[in-house]
Amino acid sequence: MTAYQRAIAQFEAIFGSSPQIVTVAPGRVNLIGEHTDYNEGFVLPIAIDRHLCVAARGRPDQTVRVAAADLNDTDEFPLTEIVRDERGSWRNYPRGVAWVIQQNGVALKGIDAVIASDIPIGAGLSSSAAMEVGFALTLLHFAKAEVPCPTLAQWCQRAEHEFAGVQCGIMDQMIALLGKEQHALLLDCRDLSHELVPLPKGIAFVIADTGVPRTLAASEYNIRRAQCGEAVKVLSELLGRPLRSLRDVTLDELGQVFNEMPDPLRRRARHVLTENSRVLAFQQAMREGALRRAGSLLLASHASLRDDYEVSCRELDAMVSALMSVEGVFGARLTGAGFGGACLAMVREDAVERVLTETPPRYKQLLGENSPESTLFAVHPSDGAQVRPL
Ligand code: GLA
Repeated sequence: MTAYQRAIAQFEAIFGSSPQIVTVAPGRVNLIGEHTDYNEGFVLPIAIDRHLCVAARGRPDQTVRVAAADLNDTDEFPLTEIVRDERGSWRNYPRGVAWVIQQNGVALKGIDAVIASDIPIGAGLSSSAAMEVGFALTLLHFAKAEVPCPTLAQWCQRAEHEFAGVQCGIMDQMIALLGKEQHALLLDCRDLSHELVPLPKGIAFVIADTGVPRTLAASEYNIRRAQCGEAVKVLSELLGRPLRSLRDVTLDELGQVFNEMPDPLRRRARHVLTENSRVLAFQQAMREGALRRAGSLLLASHASLRDDYEVSCRELDAMVSALMSVEGVFGARLTGAGFGGACLAMVREDAVERVLTETPPRYKQLLGENSPESTLFAVHPSDGAQVRPL
């Protein structure tokens, strides 16, 4: 059964009636532009054909009851008093978005809901943003309220900051709302302006999950974010002008003061600035169908994330090598926050089957006896979240 069918079936089993709507929210994979969004930089994600679905029905009162079908777990909270679940669980996403929507003056109504998902959790495919966006659209539907995109993405981001405790950027929520079939989204995180980039025919994207859970992701993520803030301060002093973010510095300027900057701050800054230019070069290559050039940019991104930003790990590096050893792979890199999770590979469409079968044994071979189990699958650029009435 798909997540869509599971959400409906579980809803009927738990609540004894049919849902009125199912909200379908996609996972995402970032093609390039990693750890740039919270530095006011560029990103180029796609929404993928793996979804989180929220089956729901309105209630006459102010209670939200929600079941997570795949986790066999439930939650119930009053809209009049929403608090964080201190144990830190999936509950904080529905609670967080309900809280943030009301903080912004929208009066919500109670709902019964069941969540089911086909997005692997912990692989860096942003199942959390899908849950935020999916649940937010569901609540807004029953409140008969519409909130336009950049604003709703920002509200969901705030829910993640305040309820889940991760100081994430804006990329995941934006792409979960704005994705489009056969397109990537070029997003300027400085002013949230965006543009759809058509993807060339004949290529496919493969997700290669290393099987390593992203245990350090939350804590190390927040550390990286703080280091970028520090780098901005140091650069402001060295360059003698106030800077708001790393976006205000050119690579040339960084080069001039590089030796005077403390490590690792200077390497963190170098990753962000070089990655921004790689995003722009990559989207240009996509428009021109320059696949080899695009592939080299993916590899350069991985090297920069590994050496300058230090968010890779042995398994992610091994996965990139394993993928690159298969014929028909243009490029590969870690995707998402890093510290485990998945790699993305851009491959020739007719090579997908070969990549899926030949990569896992090579990955195992590179890592030896204790190699974790990898999981590979192809994804397709898909549409953003939608509320579907039944
Ligand atoms: C996580 C965050 C995003 C982004 C990426 C790294 O997925 O949620 O906002 O910062 O890491 O590029």
